[in-house]
Amino acid sequence: MGGNTPALRWAGIPRPYNPEPFFFHGVPMPDTVISTDILPEGDACRFDPPTDPCLIVILGASGDLTSRKIIPSLYRLFLLASLPSDFAVLGCSRTQLDSPLFRSRLQQGLEQSGADMSRWEEFSEKLYYQQLLYDETASFDALAAAIERIGDTHQTGSNCLYYLAIPPFLFETVIPLLGQAGLAAEPAGAWRRIIVEKPFGSDLQSAVRLDGILGASFSERQIYRIDHYLAKETVQNILAFRFANAILEPLWNRKYIEYVEICALETIGIENRAGYYEKAGVLRDMFQNHMLQLLSVVAMEPPTQFKTEHMRTRKAAVFKSLRPFGLENISSHIVLGQYTEGAVDEHLVAGYRQEPGVDPQSLTPTFAGMKVFIDNRRWQGVPFYLTSGKRMRDKITRITVQFRDVNKSIFRKGMMSSSGPNRLTFSIQPHEKIAIEFRAKNPGPVMCLRPIDLEFRYDSESAAHMEAYEKVLLDCLGGDQMLSLRQDSEELCWAFLTPLIEDCEQCMRTERILHFYPAGSSGPVEAEKIRLNKVI
Ligand code: BG6
Repeated sequence: MGGNTPALRWAGIPRPYNPEPFFFHGVPMPDTVISTDILPEGDACRFDPPTDPCLIVILGASGDLTSRKIIPSLYRLFLLASLPSDFAVLGCSRTQLDSPLFRSRLQQGLEQSGADMSRWEEFSEKLYYQQLLYDETASFDALAAAIERIGDTHQTGSNCLYYLAIPPFLFETVIPLLGQAGLAAEPAGAWRRIIVEKPFGSDLQSAVRLDGILGASFSERQIYRIDHYLAKETVQNILAFRFANAILEPLWNRKYIEYVEICALETIGIENRAGYYEKAGVLRDMFQNHMLQLLSVVAMEPPTQFKTEHMRTRKAAVFKSLRPFGLENISSHIVLGQYTEGAVDEHLVAGYRQEPGVDPQSLTPTFAGMKVFIDNRRWQGVPFYLTSGKRMRDKITRITVQFRDVNKSIFRKGMMSSSGPNRLTFSIQPHEKIAIEFRAKNPGPVMCLRPIDLEFRYDSESAAHMEAYEKVLLDCLGGDQMLSLRQDSEELCWAFLTPLIEDCEQCMRTERILHFYPAGSSGPVEAEKIRLNKVI
């Protein structure tokens, strides 16, 4: 480590760095020795775009995900010069299309979204389309031939990134056929990777089966189970806040934290996705993935190093420590809800059961609030409240860490006015910011306290902001699996939620715990009750 490294300089004098074992409540944590190479090297903050030439193959290219997320993200990365110089995109789906039509459809979508179209022509020359019949071997052989042809034209070598943007029920058909067509095997010196988005199975059993199917053709190193929530700036910043600041980590445990609240509230409804949502409901759509991932980032033990497998192992440890729900008194841990007709942003919107394609008697939950415990030394007894719902009053994704109140405060209650104990908030959407609420003295002649916020706002940052899907794609192109889920974590999340989901799906039980809430409200009032029952 050179003496000029800024991280080692303090008041102009190189400061010695003494690695010390990390202590938790006076007990050294096993296997947690902070090593010097976690300190930033001189150029650690430089962004190097991926350089490996690559063909990106999107399966399910006529769908919504491709036009709304994948192509806009790739195009923006192209505008930012963040894609390898030799790349091409091959879209495939059942729809009969040709490349010019594929390009013009995507162009229309981007124009409507107000994208900068100045380099579209250049980008679109790298876009191709080929029809793919998902259950026909011959169609996959034709795909293999197209991959080779386009690879030669654009000098992308044999590197391929497959993006499964197809409906999940097709995964089990498509993945083996990719393998049989020789598309998963890595030619000498080249790589083949596959992106699988949620829903990854629909319960533990199907997730394990899907892992088996993936594992028969691809190795774990090639598989990217992505969750776009992990790629959001503020979510990544939780790690920086926790592990790069000495003032937080010593307080980050049951002794100082009263509870943690994670909420992802949306104003949108199910948006023409009845077919998927009726089967998924909010527990599969938001909890098995995004909500539990957010939980793991808040709750994980410090990894030994900021490296992929260290991080993934720490996250898996959180999922292993989740306390299973006691199904006997389920209603003290979970409240489910479904929206009825109401007004969102002053517009009248239909209730869930009136949405096109939804069963008029549907018991599918569109809201869930749950109290979760992590049974380990750090978090024993600290409730984590997870809440997510559709058609809520506001769009808010936020993590709140509520600290315990001052022990034996010298201030009388009346002097504290409306202020509460310290609270740290990570706002993820709609505004990305981090705020810590303190108590401070109100200006004036009397000692009276009021709350004040110390705030860091991302929107005041000038650095180019990266959308979650852009970050996900960059990582996959660069071979970085840090933000993708390892097989054990995926299965542990299902193992935790499957008994609950199965229990809720028995109609009798759901009828008892499913509460209705008007669209545009803050969810069922019953959700507050799980905070009042202190079942620890
Ligand atoms: C998706 C869910 O994974 O996440 C959607 O399927 C949800 O139902 C969406 O609306 C929310 O993502 P974001 O990034 O808009 O909060």
